[in-house]
Amino acid sequence: MRKNIIAGNWKMNTTLPEGLALAKGLNEALKGKTLKCDVVIGVPFTHLASIAAAIDTDRIGVAAQNCANNGKGAFTGEVSAAMVASAGATYVIIGHSERRSYYHENDEILKEKVNLALANGLTPIFCIGEALEEREAGKHFEVVDLQVEGALFDLSAGDFGKLVIAYEPVWAIGTGKTATAEQAQEIHAHIRSTLANKYGQTAADNCPILYGGSMNAENAKALVAKPDVDGGLIGGASLSVEKFLPIVEAF
Ligand code: PGA
Repeated sequence: MRKNIIAGNWKMNTTLPEGLALAKGLNEALKGKTLKCDVVIGVPFTHLASIAAAIDTDRIGVAAQNCANNGKGAFTGEVSAAMVASAGATYVIIGHSERRSYYHENDEILKEKVNLALANGLTPIFCIGEALEEREAGKHFEVVDLQVEGALFDLSAGDFGKLVIAYEPVWAIGTGKTATAEQAQEIHAHIRSTLANKYGQTAADNCPILYGGSMNAENAKALVAKPDVDGGLIGGASLSVEKFLPIVEAF
């Protein structure tokens, strides 16, 4: 049976002291609670080691928000999957739409990142999702299929089994516009069928598919109640314990 996961994506927010306080606050808030999902926080590179050391990582997994598409060497400013893993992260967000659009990350680059993440024992949270024009043109199914095929379909069945996918329609990210639970269910089921065609129904059924895009305390319950929505990737609402906790408790 696949896992339910609620993952925060802090993006480029919080100084190290602020981030540490937020992580510790969440750690405190979750103490003694019985949860029906795994909890992950995606934090800036600079925060990884300190946060991993300060919280109970059996309860809250730590994710990087990116990793390099090269293993090591003369790539000034880059941070490798091995570095991320050695800092205590167990997950890495790959292919977020902000990385795809602002940093021109394409399928080839993302494929390398996924491979390096897996080779270093990290669980990739691989993001896909269409832009508004693509949805309005009725191309959203095609767009997510191409994103999945382009970066993931060279993976072995074994490696595919380690992935988490996050469907994040670009028009819903940070806009306050959420996909309806029905829209999310429809495309998640479609993504799962695409995965099943390649890796078989069992493998597809075991792959967590998270929804992301303006998910909050109000809409989380309806979204995660859908059979193919296995959790969420949460940006804005992951930046405070008060907003994040009700989403964690939505299951
Ligand atoms: P949001 O961001 O929740 O602020 O819309 C989600 C994401 O980009 O992962």
